[in-house]
Amino acid sequence: MDSILVKGGNTLQGDIPIAGAKNAALTLMPVTLLSDEPLTLTNTPRLSDIKTMTTLLESLGAEVTSLQDGKVLAMSTHGAINTTADYEIVRKMRASNLVLGPLLAREGHAIVSLPGGCAIGARPMDIHTDGLAKMGAQIDLRDGYLHAKADGGKLKGAVIDFPFASVGATENIMMAATLAKGTTVINNAAREPEIVDLATCLRAMGAQIDGDGSPTITIQGVDRLGAATHAVVTDRIELGTYMLAPVIAGGEVTCLGGRIDLLAAFCEKLDAAGVSVTETDAGLKVALRGDRPKAVDVTTEPFPGFPTDLQAQMMAMLCFADGTSVLEEKIFENRFMHAPELVRMGADIDVQGGTATVRGVDMLKGAPVMATDLRASVSLILAGLAAEGETLVNRVYHLDRGYEKVVRKFAGVGANVERVKGQ
Ligand code: UD1
Repeated sequence: MDSILVKGGNTLQGDIPIAGAKNAALTLMPVTLLSDEPLTLTNTPRLSDIKTMTTLLESLGAEVTSLQDGKVLAMSTHGAINTTADYEIVRKMRASNLVLGPLLAREGHAIVSLPGGCAIGARPMDIHTDGLAKMGAQIDLRDGYLHAKADGGKLKGAVIDFPFASVGATENIMMAATLAKGTTVINNAAREPEIVDLATCLRAMGAQIDGDGSPTITIQGVDRLGAATHAVVTDRIELGTYMLAPVIAGGEVTCLGGRIDLLAAFCEKLDAAGVSVTETDAGLKVALRGDRPKAVDVTTEPFPGFPTDLQAQMMAMLCFADGTSVLEEKIFENRFMHAPELVRMGADIDVQGGTATVRGVDMLKGAPVMATDLRASVSLILAGLAAEGETLVNRVYHLDRGYEKVVRKFAGVGANVERVKGQ
């Protein structure tokens, strides 16, 4: 299996292009199931998770054509389709559960494998299924599969109060509600930019949706959705990841296509840590103001709070900070697996439950490390940028799931990062 070799010590200079958002694209792709007409996505990232979603959609009967080296996906789903999402595909990627709402809305029934847990926590689907049940779906769990059927063959609008602003549940219910009979109101909905992107695409297809980006989303069901072409929003997590690179390694980097409104809470923390972030027409220009970042406390929260998907990368930066930082993880119960790996590189981190205390050190030392999820893996590359000697990050397949051309992007601004072919 391939690894990434990082030789620390280079300062960074230049531009890094930021791709379309993985999480937005994975939500927009199942939208093809809601219409007989073509849906074209532009600005799609080139990632293995996108290939997994392509395989899933094709298994259901959608046609997915990758154009322009994967930056454009032309999709079409017409006629009768298969309504069973198989465990063999779903188990590879939790976002596969996003076909449940669209299948149920289109066909009135669906069988979707439960994705199971993952390295960062249990990740149940009760908020999705309770919401769909309110819309008149009967859902049973049999043999590891959710068997869902809409009463009378068609979902009905309902008022749904989420106990937690789940991103995936908001997306599944929004998609399902576009073709339901009547009006659906989601209270305590997720407000992430990917939700707004999904609503924008659905509206372009003829859906009637209001309130996306706020805690209350209202969807008036329509009989059918038409064709659309939609550009995927910028990946705010990839953006935040590369913004931390010059803070850790030194130098100045512009993240092309970056916007502060996608990451306001993150940018506030960077400012408090002594990082200058300037929005220009090209994107976000980032540089550290002094010699060393300052310690800051961080709590992960649903948008507009600090994103859990940037917690590992922020921890890598805080390992080098002047002072002690406290990181609280409030979204996933088991999302500090990068901490022991950073400790192997010389970091001073103490984890107690959902709280990590990071005492900044002057220097980390390179080491062979590995991570059990995507964001943890990239945090180890970030740490390696300023570590003394060589850091070898194993289990690269996690990175391929969510960071397109990761080596080229780091190397393009002067980092000494290369991919090492495995046996
Ligand atoms: C999405 C993102 C993921 C990000 C997460 C939180 C995609 C493809 N993935 O995941 O990168 O880390 O948002 O920003 O967009 N929960 C329940 N019951 C449910 C659903 C969720 O208890 O039915 C819990 C989860 O276990 C977790 C929390 O709610 O603790 C957040 O989950 P959710 O917002 O649903 O995340 P995802 O949509 O899975």
